[in-house]
Amino acid sequence: MRAGGILVLACALFTRRLHSVTERHEPMEESMPRLAVGVSGTGTLLEAMIARKLEISFVFADRQCRGYDIAREHGIACLMLPHLVFTASFDRDQYTRYVNYVLDERDIDVFAMAGFMTVLAPLMFEGRYRGRVLNTHPSLLPKFKGAHAVRDAFNAGEQVSGCTIHVATEELDSGEILAQARVARRDDDTVESWHERIKVAERALYPRIIESFMLTRL
Ligand code: GRF
Repeated sequence: MRAGGILVLACALFTRRLHSVTERHEPMEESMPRLAVGVSGTGTLLEAMIARKLEISFVFADRQCRGYDIAREHGIACLMLPHLVFTASFDRDQYTRYVNYVLDERDIDVFAMAGFMTVLAPLMFEGRYRGRVLNTHPSLLPKFKGAHAVRDAFNAGEQVSGCTIHVATEELDSGEILAQARVARRDDDTVESWHERIKVAERALYPRIIESFMLTRL
């Protein structure tokens, strides 16, 4: 077994222990689909989902972040597997296998990425989770894919951008578009202030779209 494999296995064993301490299974109706949320950042989308009273069964974080703390504060079962290796030797397949494993183990039906910054390997979008991984992206896709969507739209001189809720596929920021919201740029906007207003739109839209996806598409 390669070093990356040993590392992931060790993390799996460690987090299983951790999990047994942190996880609290709420009693749920048998037929309720189970939602997991992936976070890497400030977690305001997760907060919006909690505020809408979405039943969140599990939160997965790829780093120490406020999103993870929010999950813990709300007593949501959560687990963090940081990228210990952010270099070219990062084993994306191995990491994705682990994500798949922890979701599967918790019987998750839908994985909603909410500012989740790890690009998962194609295997995440096959098998059980095919068509069941959702994402929100801060642009009007197919325009401005990638990690700097707001900055790229800003530098391109766009006067309107927004957000897109979509089914995630192995191709980054692609897949079926479920909803979009437009957000106009103001004269005095910076990249940051424009992104903040786009995030307001995402917080209004994403929880609603997840809810209707779970009610109508599973
Ligand atoms: C959102 O704009 C999302 O589209 C982008 O990262 C932001 C997440 O914000 N990928 P938060 O961590 O939920 O506050």
